[in-house]
Amino acid sequence: MGNATQSPETPQNTTTRPRISFLGCGYLGATYAICFAELGYEVVGYDVDAEKIDSFSTGTVPFHEPGLPELLKKNLESGRLRFTTDVQAVADFADVHFICVGTPQRAGEHGADLSYIEAAVTDLSRHLSRKVLIVGKSTVPVGTATWVQEIVDRNAPADLGVEVGWSPEFLQESNAMHDVLRPNRIVYAAQSEWASKLLKDVHRGIMELAAVEDREVPVVETDLATAELVKVAANAFLSTKISFINAMADLCEVTGGDVADLARAIGYDNRIGNRFLRAGIGFGGGCLPKDIRALTARAGELGVGESFRFLGEVDQLNTRRRTHTVGIIADLVGRPSGPAGPDLSGVRVAYLGATFKPDTDDIRDSPALAIARKLRASRADVVVYDPEGLDNAKSYAPELSYVKTLAEAVEGADVVCAMVPWEEFRTLDPEALGQQVAERRILDGMNAFYPEQWVSHGWTYRGIGR
Ligand code: UDX
Repeated sequence: MGNATQSPETPQNTTTRPRISFLGCGYLGATYAICFAELGYEVVGYDVDAEKIDSFSTGTVPFHEPGLPELLKKNLESGRLRFTTDVQAVADFADVHFICVGTPQRAGEHGADLSYIEAAVTDLSRHLSRKVLIVGKSTVPVGTATWVQEIVDRNAPADLGVEVGWSPEFLQESNAMHDVLRPNRIVYAAQSEWASKLLKDVHRGIMELAAVEDREVPVVETDLATAELVKVAANAFLSTKISFINAMADLCEVTGGDVADLARAIGYDNRIGNRFLRAGIGFGGGCLPKDIRALTARAGELGVGESFRFLGEVDQLNTRRRTHTVGIIADLVGRPSGPAGPDLSGVRVAYLGATFKPDTDDIRDSPALAIARKLRASRADVVVYDPEGLDNAKSYAPELSYVKTLAEAVEGADVVCAMVPWEEFRTLDPEALGQQVAERRILDGMNAFYPEQWVSHGWTYRGIGR
């Protein structure tokens, strides 16, 4: 397996290569567009946001993703990749159009907002003048593909016979290039032999790369509903795994157990597996929280809500981590919580990490940032440092203080909260750090340190569930 920053040699055997468009150049669409150009396809990325398109067209990735800027530049130069706001040009160019627009949580509700899908598909359909395949990639409630086909049928010239397929993505931020170029599986649904063959051709580049690297990429070809469900099922399962280990963390805390050891021990059972069993401050990001809410809402609409009640608890258990963590920090500084929460006035907190996970600048539904805000609401003096997420965090949570270096954050701190496992935090040296702080107290919100090492340097150490 290669890593995310390693780019493949473009396979030379370019047999059948449909021309591809990606509609929506957010995190998902842009990464796919760039990677498919790398795989040898002619690609266009489309977005209604002219600023975003300008940025990609001039070689700048407007978010942080390791390795992607280099691959963007390389493929712009190759001539296989371009970006546009011109939907007519997109409609004329591509044989296969991937819909990659956002499906955020609807304001005040748990269901997904499909308005961006509706707008993109309507607009594209009206500009088509030949038979093409439109493939949904965005994460959607089951049943959306059928609705998309109806939109196409209403808006594209009837005699073209434009078809809709579905192919979910599973990319993880900070590992996105790897997940597109070297996926652990490909899932797609087609409604005809023609569409099935086209989808096979679209994925040929991934298969050729796998063959060169002596890997296998399993393909699951299925019906539309299953293809839609696969993505939310995977995210619901992963969320459940994390909330499960966090529940065990609570049990470890009251019994003197160590959840990190526990996770390791059960993870050796390969029916369970050792991934996604890191207990801590809970999951966040642009996918897991919203996807489990949308799945629960959709299941309710379809009359099987009862079977998904547990996912509501997975969600709530996750959200409760945040208040729970504030309680641990309050304990650590000797200000235990009262009924109205702790009073942390005068407590200087060195707060390390704002993003929802390391190696991204994404702060969407970030547990770390939510906890920082709770500490501030309890009147703590919270000084935040994050390697890449400062700008986004600042605009979302302006009430916090932000500094550009770790040294400034920890200077004179009463407590260090290491919340997101960035390399820079995982490798902290207890002795050197001890020289800078006012009090040697650390919350290891990442559960990434060896407690004994910190204790031996005079620190009061608290992890989560250990
Ligand atoms: C997720 C899915 O992994 C991906 O397949 C899907 O396409 C999109 O949603 P992503 O949101 O990028 O990807 O992040 P992921 O790495 O899954 O982490 C999600 C959250 O779970 C993070 O906040 C992370 O810190 C947390 N997490 C992860 C844990 O708390 N414990 C773990 O063991 C693993």
